Amino acid sequence: MKKSFLAIFALASLGASNLAVAFQEGDIIVRAGLANVSPDESSSNIVVGSDLGVSLTVDDDTQLGLNFAYFFTDRLNVEVLAATPFKHDVNFNVSDPLGTGDQLGEVTHLPPTVSVNYYLNDPSSAFQPYLGAGLNYTIFFDEEFTAANDGAGLTDLSLDSSFGLAFQAGVDYMLNDTWFVNGSIRWIDIDTEASFNLNGAAGSVESIEIDPWVYTVSVGYRF
Ligand code: NI
Repeated sequence: MKKSFLAIFALASLGASNLAVAFQEGDIIVRAGLANVSPDESSSNIVVGSDLGVSLTVDDDTQLGLNFAYFFTDRLNVEVLAATPFKHDVNFNVSDPLGTGDQLGEVTHLPPTVSVNYYLNDPSSAFQPYLGAGLNYTIFFDEEFTAANDGAGLTDLSLDSSFGLAFQAGVDYMLNDTWFVNGSIRWIDIDTEASFNLNGAAGSVESIEIDPWVYTVSVGYRF
């Protein structure tokens, strides 16, 4: 991701031209690009009757990221982050603890986030860094065990939705009066709990902190 950031800003500085003003009250902007969700996870152990002494890890994923923002002053906007669904492998933290391989399953989620962002620079500058804070709601669906775990009697995997805070730092770089490029880094507090059945016995992982870093690079358009 770091290389893509550098490439996009190198292009941006070549394309920069005379700019009247960056953003203004009443502007609506749309950004589209790539969003990488990189979990910084920790989990409690899997419990089925007793503690199995095995916890979980979650892989990263990259999807199409979209966001929309409305400037209610020249320097403050409210932004909605949307994306195509992220799909993450969920693995055991130790190799093959159940004789079913290293992977427990796969979950899909959507993490819509609403943020308020403050722009640090004067609107006459092409370089527009901002800081933001907001709320995230993450909904999990299509939770599935691997075929090997299915075969071992694991069924009905379900992860609770999460509601939490999100923080971000980003920068828009104006190419002209309508087009710009954007890079952002955000942290989202996503905590969940997993429940499932093992041959009819209820099992759970009571605390899964996914708490991902989300990296985005986008192209933006101002209306
Ligand atoms: Ni958390």
